[in-house]
Amino acid sequence: MLKNKNILLGVTGGIAAYKALDIVSRLKKQGANVKVIMTDHATEFVQPLSFQTLSGNVVYVDMFEKLANMDVEHISLAKWADLILLAPASANTLAKMAYGLCDNMLTTVLLAKRSPVMVAPAMNTYMLKNPRTQENLKILEKDGVHILPTDAGHLACGDDGEGKLLAPEKIVDFVDQFFTKKDLEGVDIVVTAGGTREPIDPVRYIGNRSSGKMGYAIAKAAQRRGAKVHLISANSSLEPPLGVDFISVQTTQDLLDAADKLFDDCQVYISPAAPSDFRPKSYQDQKIKRKGKDELTIELTQNPDVIGTLSKRKKGQIMVAFAAESQNLVEHASEKLARKNVDFIVANNIVKKDAGFSTDTNIVTIIDKEAATDYAKQSKEDLAEIILDKIVDLLP
Ligand SMILES: Cc1cc2nc3c(=O)[nH]c(=O)nc-3n(C[C@H](O)[C@H](O)[C@H](O)COP(=O)(O)O)c2cc1C
Repeated sequence: MLKNKNILLGVTGGIAAYKALDIVSRLKKQGANVKVIMTDHATEFVQPLSFQTLSGNVVYVDMFEKLANMDVEHISLAKWADLILLAPASANTLAKMAYGLCDNMLTTVLLAKRSPVMVAPAMNTYMLKNPRTQENLKILEKDGVHILPTDAGHLACGDDGEGKLLAPEKIVDFVDQFFTKKDLEGVDIVVTAGGTREPIDPVRYIGNRSSGKMGYAIAKAAQRRGAKVHLISANSSLEPPLGVDFISVQTTQDLLDAADKLFDDCQVYISPAAPSDFRPKSYQDQKIKRKGKDELTIELTQNPDVIGTLSKRKKGQIMVAFAAESQNLVEHASEKLARKNVDFIVANNIVKKDAGFSTDTNIVTIIDKEAATDYAKQSKEDLAEIILDKIVDLLP
C-alpha cells in the first residue's frame, strides 16, 4: 500500500520508456502521488502529455523553463520525494549518476536528492555487460542506490539476453516492499483460503462461492510485512503471491491434514477459507446417470471441524476465525469465538451488497473477548492490513 507516498519517477531515453506509463498507473492505483521527470531523449519515445494525464501532475523536462514560477524546481522536487524511482534507467543516465554529472533536470534532482533512490536498468545486453556500466552500477550500489534486477529475454534491438526492463508489476512490488513496515519479520503464519469441494462422483462436487480473495490478500500482506507464510488454498483461481509456501487442497479433510502438519510450528493461524461442513457419505466411482431416476438423494455426513480440532492443541498460537453470517451477525460470531477458542473473529454479513464471497470489498465486524468493532466497506487488501495490525498487537 503506497497511500500518500510521494514518488518521483525519472524516465530516460530507452525503448522501454512506454512501460513507465504502466508503472505510473500502478503506483496511482496503490494510492501514491506521482510526479514525473523525463530526459529530453525520453520524450523521443513517449509524449510528456501521456505521463501528465496518468499522473495528474505537470511533467518536468526542461530545467530552466520552470524558473519563471520563482520556484527552484530541482530543489523542491528533491524535497518533495519520499522515493526517486528511475524506470527505465538508461546506461547514459546511470553513468552520469555514478559520476555526479547534472546536465538536465533529472540528473540535477538526483544530485540534490535527500530521499532514497531505486533504479530499474533497461538496455541492450552488451551495454549492460560492458565493464563501464558494471562499474557504474557498483558505484551506485555503494552509494546506497537500490538497483533492481533486469529480466532476460528477447530485446527490442533483436538480441537475446539480460537487460529487459523488469515487468512494471514487479517494479511496483519492489517499491511497495520498500515502504512496507516489517513488523511480522520471522513470524510463521498459516493462512487458509478458498472453498473446499467435496466430490460426489468423478464430475460433481459440493462446493461454495468462496473465491479465496480475502485469504490471498492476507497472505500477500503478511509476506510483505516479513512473515514466513504458508498459504493453504482450496480451489481458488487466483495467482499465488510470490514468496509464500503454497499448498493446494481440495476437500475439508485435505485442508485439515495440511493445517495439521503446520500448526504446531506456527505462531499465527488465520482461516478465511470456507471448508464445507458436510460431505457425501459415499463417493460414487462412476458418474451418476439420470436415466431411470426421478429423484436423487445424496446422504451427507459431517466433516471434521478444522479450527475446533486445531485450537484444542493451541500452545500460544494466535488464532483468527472468519464467520460468514446472513443474520444475527454479532450474536453468532460471539458464540463461535467462545466455542472455537480463537483470539478474534472477523464476521461479515454475506447478504450485504459488496461484502462476502467473490467481491473485492468487504464490510466486517471484528469481535474479540472485549468488544465488537464495525469496519466500513473497504477493499480486502485494506482489511488484510487491519487484521494483521491487530495480530501484531497480540504478538508476545
Ligand atoms: C531506438 C533506440 C532505443 C534505445 N534504447 C535504449 C535502451 O533501452 N537503453 C539505453 O540505455 N539506451 C538506449 N538508447 C540510447 C539512449 O537513448 C541514449 O544513450 C541517450 O543518450 C540516453 O539519454 P538519457 O539517459 O538522457 O535519456 C536507445 C536509443 C535508440 C535510438
